[in-house]
Amino acid sequence: MVNILMNFILQMPNAKPFLFTSMSPALLHLYNASQATVVIIDVLRATSTIATALFNGAKYIIPVDSVAKCIELGRQINCVTAGERDGKIAEGLSYGNSPFEYSRLFIGGKILVLTTTNGTRLLHMALEKGAREIVTGSFVNLDVVAEYLLQQKNNVILACAAWKDRINIEDTLFAGAVIEKIREHFNIECDASHIAANLYHKASGDLFDFMQRNNASHFNRLMAYGLEKDIRYCLEPNLANVLPIYEAGKLKIY
Ligand code: MLT
Repeated sequence: MVNILMNFILQMPNAKPFLFTSMSPALLHLYNASQATVVIIDVLRATSTIATALFNGAKYIIPVDSVAKCIELGRQINCVTAGERDGKIAEGLSYGNSPFEYSRLFIGGKILVLTTTNGTRLLHMALEKGAREIVTGSFVNLDVVAEYLLQQKNNVILACAAWKDRINIEDTLFAGAVIEKIREHFNIECDASHIAANLYHKASGDLFDFMQRNNASHFNRLMAYGLEKDIRYCLEPNLANVLPIYEAGKLKIY
C-alpha cells in the first residue's frame, strides 16, 4: 500500500520527492529504502575518511562489515586493509580510520578495503534493505552531496550511522546541514528532519564548540585518544568535495 501511494505521488507532475532522516541504524527499517537514495552519514569518521581517500586518488573503496572479511580480501587482492573498532585500529589490520592516513602520496591509485564500527555496518544494512541507491556524506563533501540530491530529484533517506545504534550529535548535524541546503525542493514530513535542521541551525556558527559544550560522546572518545585534529578536519565543509557512490561492492567517485 505504501509503495502504491509512493508511486502515485512520484507520477504526479511537480510532486516533490520525500526526504526522511533516520537518526540511528535501529530506525532504518521504518523507511522505504528501495524507493530512495540513501545517504550514509558517519561524520566521525568513516564517511569523512571515505571521501578523503577517494578525493586523494584511491582507485575505489570496498566497504566490508567485518574485520575477518577485510583481512581475507587483503590476502586475495593487492589492497590497503584498514579499519577500526571503538575508534582504534582493529587488530589484524594495517591502517585505521583517520582521514590523515590517506594522503594522495599514500592512497593514490590504490584499492582501500575498509571496515568501521558503525559506518560500513550501516552501509551493509542499507544494502540488505534493498536501497535503490547508496552514497556517502559528511561535512567534507557537503556541497557535492546536496547538489547530487537536488539533481536526482529522487526520494532521500539521510541515514545516520550514530554510535552502536545510539543517536549521536555529529551525524544529526550533518543531516541538518543537508536539509538546510535542499529543503525547498523536498516534501519533509518527518520530525527527525525538523530536529536535525533545528540542531544544525543552533550549532552552525561553531560545530566544534557546539559538540564540546554538549558533551558529544564520540567527540569525547576521539578527544581522549588525542584525535582533535581528526575532529576539526571532519567538521570542515567541502575539503574533499567528491561524491562516493556504491556500485557492485565498490565505492567510487560519481
Ligand atoms: C565508525 O564507523 O564507527 C567510526 O567511523 C568510528 C571512528 O573511527 O571514529
